[in-house]
Amino acid sequence: MANTDLDQMREHMLAAIDAAAGLDALDAVRVEALGKQGRVTQLLKTLGTMSADERQVEGPRIQGLRTAVADAIASRKETLERAALDARLAGETLDMTLPADAPLSGTIHPVSQVMDELAEIFADLGFAVATGPEIEDDWHNFSALNIPESHPARAMHDTFYFPDQPGGERKMLLRTHTSPVQIRTMLSQKPPIRIIAPGRTYRSDSDATHTPMFHQVEGLVIDKGITLGHLKWTLETFLKAFFERDDITLRLRPSYFPFTEPSAEVDVGYTWQKGKRVIGGSEGWMEVLGSGMVHPKVIAACGLDPDEWQGFAFGCGIDRLAMLKYGMDDLRAFFDGDIRWLKHYGFSALDVPTLSGGVGA
Ligand code: PHE
Repeated sequence: MANTDLDQMREHMLAAIDAAAGLDALDAVRVEALGKQGRVTQLLKTLGTMSADERQVEGPRIQGLRTAVADAIASRKETLERAALDARLAGETLDMTLPADAPLSGTIHPVSQVMDELAEIFADLGFAVATGPEIEDDWHNFSALNIPESHPARAMHDTFYFPDQPGGERKMLLRTHTSPVQIRTMLSQKPPIRIIAPGRTYRSDSDATHTPMFHQVEGLVIDKGITLGHLKWTLETFLKAFFERDDITLRLRPSYFPFTEPSAEVDVGYTWQKGKRVIGGSEGWMEVLGSGMVHPKVIAACGLDPDEWQGFAFGCGIDRLAMLKYGMDDLRAFFDGDIRWLKHYGFSALDVPTLSGGVGA
């Protein structure tokens, strides 16, 4: 094929690509040029009938045409897709100032309800509520909690890390537990300390009982002469108040956390009734809590003298507590935002938990 014919064909095709006003039109151009019966494809097929000398000359020219057309299509596609996204985003704005058409139809999410219940129960025991950032650094989330860089617990947490920041000294991550609030509190307050810290936590994990974002509440007590007995009493008192019954069965299993020594995990017993887990008994156990005496190294990392100050800490899965108390069995549904689920499991905005009125609904 003459040089000028090939050039003309190229110009013609590039113009058609430029003129394609939408993704469908662009695809039609692609099929016409590069499809099975496309014009460039036909040209490529002629290479097989050529002599070796001819092919040496024609091969690179036809291949060059093919690459130019394919590149132009890819770049036009990107432009069209970006424009389509911009148009969609512009069309999806929501006027937040419009009045809701069904006033008071919203419900309080069970997680929010349980957080309010926890605050109420622990306020009665003399605990304040503390908070910390969800975007943490690895010192607060790990190192200060006696989890050094090489510690296997770091891998166990399935951490979401941020890309390294230029000039950033500490690695940033989404906190994997609420325990960094222990550190932040001990650094900013003088003991005696009694706090709970509810909030969001993140781990790369997903099944019926794990979601990548979940909720924990941390508890921390630092004072003089604190023992394991104080921890056990506090947890029992808390869980009995939360489930509003005296006959709940707790199982404390010796465990290991780098930031507590000794450590115990706490399971709550349940029975199956009509396909739902009901608190009480011991047909099954659900792990709800990790706990222990604050490790002297953690106390020292926060600038306190571990010979003078002792304490206990616990970390508790809020979503698990809500499932157990209110009978949901799939954690993932918590965060689907399905209005039917929220209507079924949500709480009235007027149903504020109080100890005197009962923290349950
Ligand atoms: N941070 C631990 C976890 O997420 C729980 C925990 C908190 C254990 C405090 C002991 C003391 O698994």
